[in-house]
Amino acid sequence: MSETAIQDLSPADFCAWLSQAGIRRFYLVWDDEAGAVRASHPALEPLARLLQEDRRDFDQHEGIFVQVAPETGVLQMAVIHRTCRGQGAGGVRFWRYDTVEGFLRDGLRLSRGMTHKNALAGLWWGGGKGVIARDTGRAGDPATRRRMYEEYGELMTSLQGCYVTAEDVGTSVEDMAAVFSRTRFTTCIPPSLGGSGNPSVPTARGVVRGMEAALAHLGRGTLAGKTVAVQGLGHVGEPLLGFLRDKGVARVVGSDIDPTRAADLHALFPDLDLEVRTVERGDNSILAEPADIVAPCATGGILNPRTIPALQAPIVCGAANNQLEDPERDDVLLQQRGILYLPDFLVNRMGIVNCADEQYGVVDPDPRIELHLGDTWDNSVYNLSLEVLSQAKTTGATTAKVALDLAEKRSRESHPLWGHRGVQIIRSLVASGWENG
Ligand code: NAI
Repeated sequence: MSETAIQDLSPADFCAWLSQAGIRRFYLVWDDEAGAVRASHPALEPLARLLQEDRRDFDQHEGIFVQVAPETGVLQMAVIHRTCRGQGAGGVRFWRYDTVEGFLRDGLRLSRGMTHKNALAGLWWGGGKGVIARDTGRAGDPATRRRMYEEYGELMTSLQGCYVTAEDVGTSVEDMAAVFSRTRFTTCIPPSLGGSGNPSVPTARGVVRGMEAALAHLGRGTLAGKTVAVQGLGHVGEPLLGFLRDKGVARVVGSDIDPTRAADLHALFPDLDLEVRTVERGDNSILAEPADIVAPCATGGILNPRTIPALQAPIVCGAANNQLEDPERDDVLLQQRGILYLPDFLVNRMGIVNCADEQYGVVDPDPRIELHLGDTWDNSVYNLSLEVLSQAKTTGATTAKVALDLAEKRSRESHPLWGHRGVQIIRSLVASGWENG
């Protein structure tokens, strides 16, 4: 097989290739001393080189650990970006990928986003992300799906805590219970097991606070009477509608690819002036809606040279991770159009905030959570958003750049008690031959 072929394989074919090569687990880790990516197996060198030569998504990620789950045969990965502030923390995504490269890149991007999100939120966590490839192995019926998440939990245990997983797109709180049955290195477990449950409701509340900061910054008053366009009416989009209604918005126009959403949401929010459009996957026309705010709450990469010229709203503020297709290009395009963009990792922190500190017990309502959502703490979503917007205005930098610079700086601060322990764990995994376990 030629070198480039590995990254171009479909995840399912990659599993078959790994099996032929006798590889069930492999890693790609950053060797700081050598300034190079090290692969656990010579056969995986092409992937190490792909990362090494990449300028877009690879950012000296500390470790990537991949397994083909022993029983279900599903391709599962943990990507740990930076652990200065603490163990890598971030959700596990169960998603469909065309190629191995797409699978890897999503993990790289998302884990880096978690580093920034956690640092901006002031959490003592580093950045990490889990990715499980759909259409690999067997995970169709409920029992095999449960087994597949148990195997993911076993992967977490094998990683000895350099990464602590959580819920993300495609994964449910029930799935997290299956993960939890095999490892302590998870959060977002159901309340019935002592966890914080579904993080989407606080996420929606945080996004609303970002919207309020943007309106205040522009001197446009409050959400009352405004029109908001929402792309994606799922776990975050749905409660977002309720919070927007409570704030007195005049109208919400939403889109979703799921044709059942419209009837459900009209039944849930009979008193909201709501239009729900069913769209094809890849239809981003909702972003061009004449509205006061556009809230991307579906998938990433939707702000790009094809969509930005058509935007009509003066504010973009939503939950979707990695909204800019190219972070170094698209924030500038938005700025040039005079559109105020609230970076996702600044306003969608509440999901991880909600579950990050489960081990400290449950208070309801939780004053720590309310601090993030209020305006008395200078690092709350609202106040930090105002600060980023104000710095961007003063310096002429884009909002994404200001937020990113701050996040980068904070993400390199060492955990006050545990220092850079994540990287020590990764080194010990490598030294102990994790790949043979
Ligand atoms: P979800 O999967 O429950 O909802 C996404 C919705 O978007 C689904 O209803 C789906 O049918 C729809 N959708 C997909 N493609 C679409 C398109 N092209 N146009 C319109 N609708 C489309 O996911 P969830 O949990 O609501 O998350 C949404 C976004 O927010 C994701 O990017 C996620 O990574 C991010 N996020 C979620 C957090 C959470 O607490 N759930 C926390 C932080 C970020």
